[in-house]
Amino acid sequence: MNIADSQTVTAILRRAGYATTDNPGEADVILLNTCAIREHAEARVLGRLSDLARLKSAHPERKLGLLGCMAQHNRAALMRKAPWLDLVAGPDSYRRLPELLGNASFDPAVDVRLDRTETYADVSPEYDNGVRAYVTAMRGCDKFCAFCVVPYVRGRERSVPACDILREVHQLAARGVKEIVLKVQPYLHLPVQSGSDRVLSAMGRGYTTEQYLHTVEYLRSAIPNIAFSTDIIVGFHSEDEHDFAATLGLMRTVGYDSAFMFKYSLREHTRAFKLGDTVSEVEKSRRLAEVIALQETISLERNRALVGHEFPVLVEGPARRGQGMLAGKTPQFKTALFPAVPCIKPGDTVRVRVDSATAHSLTCALV
Ligand code: 5AD
Repeated sequence: MNIADSQTVTAILRRAGYATTDNPGEADVILLNTCAIREHAEARVLGRLSDLARLKSAHPERKLGLLGCMAQHNRAALMRKAPWLDLVAGPDSYRRLPELLGNASFDPAVDVRLDRTETYADVSPEYDNGVRAYVTAMRGCDKFCAFCVVPYVRGRERSVPACDILREVHQLAARGVKEIVLKVQPYLHLPVQSGSDRVLSAMGRGYTTEQYLHTVEYLRSAIPNIAFSTDIIVGFHSEDEHDFAATLGLMRTVGYDSAFMFKYSLREHTRAFKLGDTVSEVEKSRRLAEVIALQETISLERNRALVGHEFPVLVEGPARRGQGMLAGKTPQFKTALFPAVPCIKPGDTVRVRVDSATAHSLTCALV
C-alpha cells in the first residue's frame, strides 16, 4: 500500500512539473511516506526524519514533507518533534500537494482532511519499470477492529470502480507488466489475528475460529493447492496463556505457508487504547518468539513437501543472496531460486523443479 501510494504521489507531482531523483542530496523536495499501523513503524520514521533534518540544514530552501498515515495520526506531536518540516499531508490530500508545496511560507503547510470519496482512480501511478505493479482496489476501512488505527488515519471504506481497475490493468498489460498485485492466484492472505474466540471477540473481528476454519476448508476444497498466509498479533489486551495456546493451535490446524507476526502495540484513537496493555513487553517478546519459531517449522514442512514438484515461475531478477541465481515467485507466491542462464530475463516465465527447501525459499532446477 505504501509503495502504491508513493507511486500515486509521484504521478501527481510529475503532472505538476516535478521530476524524481535517486539522490536526496540534489532534491528540492523530499517527501517521506509513512505508516502508522504499529508503534515500530512510527519509531523508524522519527529516526529517518532526523537524518533528513541534516539535508534540510545543508540547504534550508529545500522542502521537507511528511505524508501518509503518520501525518494523519499524530501531526501535533510530529511537528513538535520535527519542527523543521515544511509540509504535513494525510493520505487523502495528495492531489493538493503541488499547491501545498508552491505556497512559500514560514509556517508548515498542513492538510490532513479525510475525504469520503477520494480513490485517485483517475491518477495512473508512476510505476517503476519492474515486472510487478500494484493496483489499488480500495482505500480506508469501516470495520473498526479494537486494535486498529486504519479507519482513523485512512478514513471511510471506498472502492475503486471495477471499470477503473480494469482500465488500469489493461494499461499495465499493454506496457508489458507481467504481474499485477490485485490477485487472482492460488494464494490468499487471510489475517486471523488470534486463535482464541474470546480475544477475537474483544478485538471486534466479527468471526469465530470455527467460521474462519470453515472458510479455509471451503477454499481448500475449491482450490486444492491454495497457499495461505496470515497476520497474527500476540499480547493483545487480556490475552492469557490459554488464549495464546489457542493461537498456536490454530496455526498448526491451518498450516499457514507464511505469516506476519506482531507484538500488540497501543494505538491512540482506537477502542482498545483506553483498555491499556495487560501483557508485559517481556511476555509479548516471548510469545512473539514462540509464534515465529512455530511458523518456521510449519513453513519448512510445507515447503519441503514441494521437493520434486514442478511450477511455472515468473522471473523477477537476480536473487538477493546467492551468486548466479535468479529469483521469482511460484503461483503460490513462494520465492523460487534457480540458476541464471543468459537467455532468461525478468518478466519471462520459466518452468522449475524444486530440489530443496528452506522455510523461506525453494531452490530449484530449470526444467
Ligand atoms: N498492534 C499490533 N499489530 C497490529 N496490526 C494492526 N494494528 C496493530 C496493533 N495495534 C497488524 C494486524 C494487521 C496488520 C496489517 O498489522 O495483524 O492485520
